[in-house]
Amino acid sequence: MARNKIIVLKNGMDVFGNKIEILINGEIIEKVSENIDESRFENNENARIVDIEGKLVMPGVIDVHTHMREPGITYKEDFATGSRACAKAGVTTFYDMPNTIPATTTLENLLEKKKLAREKSIVNFGFHFGGSKNDNVEEIERVLTSGESNTVKIFMNVTTGEMLIEDDEILKNVFENAKLVLVHAEHEMIDKAIELNKNYGKGLYVCHIPSADELKKVINAKKNNKLNTKEHPVYAEVTPHHLFLNTEIRESTERNRMLLRMKPELREKSDNEFLWEAINRGEIDTIGTDHAPHLISEKLEKITFGMPGVETSLALMINAFNEGKISLEMIQKLMCENPAKIMKIEKRGKIQEGYFADIIAIDTQKEWIVGIDDTIESKCGWTPYENWKLRGKNAMTIVNGEIVYENGKINENVKSGKEVEFCD
Ligand code: DOR
Ligand code: ZN
Ligand code: ZN
Repeated sequence: MARNKIIVLKNGMDVFGNKIEILINGEIIEKVSENIDESRFENNENARIVDIEGKLVMPGVIDVHTHMREPGITYKEDFATGSRACAKAGVTTFYDMPNTIPATTTLENLLEKKKLAREKSIVNFGFHFGGSKNDNVEEIERVLTSGESNTVKIFMNVTTGEMLIEDDEILKNVFENAKLVLVHAEHEMIDKAIELNKNYGKGLYVCHIPSADELKKVINAKKNNKLNTKEHPVYAEVTPHHLFLNTEIRESTERNRMLLRMKPELREKSDNEFLWEAINRGEIDTIGTDHAPHLISEKLEKITFGMPGVETSLALMINAFNEGKISLEMIQKLMCENPAKIMKIEKRGKIQEGYFADIIAIDTQKEWIVGIDDTIESKCGWTPYENWKLRGKNAMTIVNGEIVYENGKINENVKSGKEVEFCD
């Protein structure tokens, strides 16, 4: 039997500023301590000692909100290109949304999609099942009992795709039959989702909250011990674009007026500020990118909702840390720990003995220009942050104990991504 590969990460620093060293045995973190004696591996040809020279070590980012476009819309993105974008940027797990063609609203379609991801993805993946306007609660039940997914995404406002549910009876059925329900809900649809969760649900995750007004609704619900309970908790997600972009930036050039369009739309600078304050008050649970790639030609031709995001999310947040806007500890919570907890992902999201070795090393001081000093791996070929000067960049990505990205390059020889498993 082949011996496990060993990696010893030397001289890392954790988010608290403490020295950290990690022994990886196969796909699992075997030991985490201040100092790991690498001498016993000196003659082991399966072992690699990696000195990461003081870089920041974090669990790989878990982005639970992406649209990887496969199957059916793969001219925009697919599991290979989308997962490469993830690997480069430090995202070791993504969750894909159901608004593909066909939509992920039957067990059969979900299994078909999984097959494609298994063949192509170089990072870990999970799937949100889709609630259908044609009432698919029977499929929801099948998916949840089979354990093929444990989350359902529904669209309560118009956006890209054909998945809007307007029928109150169907909405009620979804909440009654699902476990955690993720919603695309804007304005008063947020109130409705909170109410449905309270009356029928087992958990509500409000995606991409864009504004102070909408966030206040969710924060109030989170603080209300009837609306937010252990039986039906409420979670809040914000995207990088609603933190870093606003209408002022969008309206500044003709091009931005077309490119910076998505649902929910960008809001005012004051909304950016409110979102940051809420983050630092601990009122936000996760950062999800809503990675929604479209070709630039499509974006410039007519208003098309969605922008790529996985490739820049972590770097933008590390840059925000360098600007004093957020702590590293909070970044780790929002981007790694909480997503794993909320989605009940087994043994990921933390650097802990016995967990899968999904680990990233970040050069927090590296200065670089987005789209100039780096590749764009997403098939859409563009980023809304082009020419932004950032400080902080992912330098190494380990997925299930395999180094998939280092020295500015994706390792073309490994494909270690796996499907997530659930711990309940
Ligand atoms: O802007 C958006 N684009 N918002 C969504 O909710 C969907 C997404 C997409 O799939 O393009
Ligand atoms: Zn959405
Ligand atoms: Zn989305």
